[in-house]
Amino acid sequence: MEIVIEKAREKDIPDIFEIMKTANMHHVPSPEMPDLDWRCFFVAKVDGRIVGAAGYRITSGKEAKTTLLAVLPDFRKYGIGRALQTRRMLALCEKGIEMLITNADIPETIDWYKRHFGYKEIGKLKKVHEFGRPDIDEWTTLQTSLSEWRQKYDQPGNK
Ligand SMILES: CC(C)(COP(=O)(O)OP(=O)(O)OC[C@H]1O[C@@H](n2cnc3c(N)ncnc32)[C@H](O)[C@@H]1OP(=O)(O)O)[C@@H](O)C(=O)NCCC(=O)NCCS
Repeated sequence: MEIVIEKAREKDIPDIFEIMKTANMHHVPSPEMPDLDWRCFFVAKVDGRIVGAAGYRITSGKEAKTTLLAVLPDFRKYGIGRALQTRRMLALCEKGIEMLITNADIPETIDWYKRHFGYKEIGKLKKVHEFGRPDIDEWTTLQTSLSEWRQKYDQPGNK
């Protein structure tokens, strides 16, 4: 399967919403997710179809937060999520961002972030309303150092 990761365009917004719907992450605008800025999104395409999307928000000169990330259910487990997450981390490195925060709810996803992207747990946060997995009412806040991750990523065999 050939996966292409591209910067999102404004016309991709409806497709991004359809993908987020499959993960119950389409409640935008809402207190949990005030807006969706397509300029800070990447999309994953397979045969020209958008099958995944990932966003970020820069919160200060050196820090950013990931926003939404999801892949259509039929396309999960093919490395698309990893390619999207890697692309947004590289984009933030290029902007000089050093620390990246991610709120995640599903235990498998939290483990995945820790295993592949150097995240560590730094806290818990109650969800303001339903968003993501309806049976989980809190976010686990994760943090990773982009410079440390980048050093490992640049080593031969890690790309
Ligand atoms: C998280 C997500 C984007 C991963 O996408 P993907 O294309 O399947 O990811 P990859 O193929 O690159 O990697 C598969 C990995 O996902 C892990 N994973 C992450 N979240 C998972 C979940 N909710 N259920 C099952 N496996 C999950 C698997 O353990 C596997 O890990 P491995 O590579 O170490 O074996 C996808 O599961 C998804 O859309 N989940 C719902 C939305 C979500 O939770 N988004 C994150 C918000 S913080």
